[in-house]
Amino acid sequence: MGVQAGVLLCWLHVLCAVVFGDVWKVEVESKIDALVSSCVVLPCTFKYPAQEQPSSRIRAMWHTKTNRKDYIYNNDHTNVIENFKGRTKLIGSLGALNCSLEIDGVRNHDNGPYCFRVELGTSAKYSFVNNCVTIKMIEKASKPELLAETSVEEGQPLIFKCSVRHTCPSHQPTLSWNHTGKTITSYKDIGHGKWEAESSLTFIPTKEDDHSSVACTVKYHGSVEGEMQVTHQIFVKVEQANLSHFIIPTISGLGAALLVGLLCLLVVIKYRKRIADLQSRNDNTESEAHRRSTGMQGGEQQLICF
Ligand SMILES: *[C@@H]1O[C@H](CO)[C@@H](O)[C@H](O)[C@H]1NC(C)=O
Ligand SMILES: *[C@@H]1O[C@H](CO)[C@@H](O)[C@H](O)[C@H]1NC(C)=O
Repeated sequence: MGVQAGVLLCWLHVLCAVVFGDVWKVEVESKIDALVSSCVVLPCTFKYPAQEQPSSRIRAMWHTKTNRKDYIYNNDHTNVIENFKGRTKLIGSLGALNCSLEIDGVRNHDNGPYCFRVELGTSAKYSFVNNCVTIKMIEKASKPELLAETSVEEGQPLIFKCSVRHTCPSHQPTLSWNHTGKTITSYKDIGHGKWEAESSLTFIPTKEDDHSSVACTVKYHGSVEGEMQVTHQIFVKVEQANLSHFIIPTISGLGAALLVGLLCLLVVIKYRKRIADLQSRNDNTESEAHRRSTGMQGGEQQLICF
């Protein structure tokens, strides 16, 4: 009976743990890209099997997976390995169960993996070594992406959109244009630690903008290398009103000429047959000379038309 009660209690404990999340748990992105020399934020949330504590009562660390004593972040700043001193910052609020870490001035060999560790008092401690984060280094930024129409009508507003994806939300990149207009910048969390910064530019093109190029330039936090600019050439169509002044008279003129020509052709075909008929009838009664003069008349009729 004693054993059975014990088993039951144990099962209840497990059930409670599952249902109420009464366990040590961390959520991170196992892989994240980072631009060398910029910053990267490792998103992180955690849970612990105890009453909620204020930030001040929670000690947090990040360490390498290979050595739990190699801290890349520690509440106690003196206890951080040389390579990471002054480069890491916990940007999440521990009281709100947010353990997100910022690594600034990303270096080529910062790959990790790195694991989060939490300590509540002296007895409750946990290193989440089964959910660590590996960083993939991006040495050179790729071109910003630019969306815009190529051919526009003069006087119609033109919208350009330029965007970049990155993993450094604590220092968002800036996007700038080399054409005046109305600009709107937005930053969007697109999940898995990735962010998108976008700038839109709206202006009304003039004739002077025809065949010109508009450039969007990105400036990342840090001295990032790579392609920072994208250009887009635009072609401004002349106003519709000017176009119709030229095209409509041309089309109607051509149409009228074609109609007259067609009518002439019909008349000629009809009369040629009649003339031929008359000629063959006259053949029997009139002389050779007479016939030639009537033939001339038929020829004259054709000349009028063409
Ligand atoms: C954790 O904190 C970071 C930085 O303040 C924030 O961007 C992120 O949205 C937070 N995560 C959650 C799940 O609240
Ligand atoms: C914007 O920059 C591009 C590329 O440098 C250049 O070709 C273009 O003429 C510039 N446009 C304006 C309006 O300055």
